Amino acid sequence: MIHTRVCDLLGISHPIVLGGMGGATTAPLVAAVSNAGGFGTLGTSAFDAAMLDREIGAIRERTDKPFGVNHLLFEVKEEMFAVTLRARPALVAFAWARKNQNLSDYFKRAHDCGARVMHMAGEVPEALRAAEAGADILVAQGTEAGGHVGWMASLPLLPMMVKAVAPLPVLCAGGIADGRGLAGALALGAEGVLLGTRFLATNESPLHPNFKQSIVDSDGHDTVLTEIPDLASQRVWPGAMSRAKRNKFIERWSGREWVIRQNAAEIAKQVAAARVGGDIDNASISYGQDAGLIDSIKSVKEVVQDIIEEAEDIIRGRLPKLLR
Ligand SMILES: Cc1cc2nc3c(=O)[nH]c(=O)nc-3n(C[C@H](O)[C@H](O)[C@H](O)COP(=O)(O)O)c2cc1C
Repeated sequence: MIHTRVCDLLGISHPIVLGGMGGATTAPLVAAVSNAGGFGTLGTSAFDAAMLDREIGAIRERTDKPFGVNHLLFEVKEEMFAVTLRARPALVAFAWARKNQNLSDYFKRAHDCGARVMHMAGEVPEALRAAEAGADILVAQGTEAGGHVGWMASLPLLPMMVKAVAPLPVLCAGGIADGRGLAGALALGAEGVLLGTRFLATNESPLHPNFKQSIVDSDGHDTVLTEIPDLASQRVWPGAMSRAKRNKFIERWSGREWVIRQNAAEIAKQVAAARVGGDIDNASISYGQDAGLIDSIKSVKEVVQDIIEEAEDIIRGRLPKLLR
């Protein structure tokens, strides 16, 4: 059994957290992670307030275990945030704040509802800002991760962040899909891991089967950091690039970003249709470099159990033998 401070803080058996992913986390996936002894988090950016309310209700129908709700701070809508606060989840997870946003205001409102506060950062200064604003848990997100990321890789970022915000607990996100990643993150000072891509390739994930298969098929070398999907959706993120599959959609517009700005609405429509149709060439597909570590679609329960068993084998079996 691997037990860390984050297990106590969140009331979970295993220090494995599902990252809240807008458009890619729905009630069945969130509840499955919590039911497996990890911690499920719901991404909110693809919902409106009524959908968010329904989805939180659907999680509660599937589990009585703790779960979290994620908000992207740069585009947080008061109506949506109010739904989350009313629902009183165990955790409110934040990410991607603008520099001029007052973090302590959001953190305090979450705390006042009895929730823990987690903040994800891709750089140390942002983690320090969140620590000073009262976060309970920080997430060091490396650039290997799927979705929107910064420029620092997990390997240097995590220990720097652990030291900077000590004694606050830090989770490692980005590049982790198995027990080797969990054992490595713990060795670097993390109190657990936060996973996106690995949970996207599960039975319970809401992704189109073709997109799950493209994660399995990926050798991990086929992603690119790009602004193309965001230009099409006309969402300006504060300092993030998006790590996505380098497919025909990305190659078509690479170097012609100005054309996207001219035709964003039409291109966004095409991308949305490709997403619904499971068209892996013309949709925007976000996954991390750790897709290269994923070779099958499994149940969430198997994913969590396999990660824990492999990490325990490494910690108990392989590492002690290295000592002379
Ligand atoms: C499709 C996708 C959507 C994501 N959406 C969000 C989001 O809405 N909010 C957020 O905080 N992080 C989001 N992330 C980032 C994850 O929380 C997490 O940091 C990342 O997936 C970890 O790296 P990994 O994919 O290598 O496991 C997203 C990631 C992916 C792949």
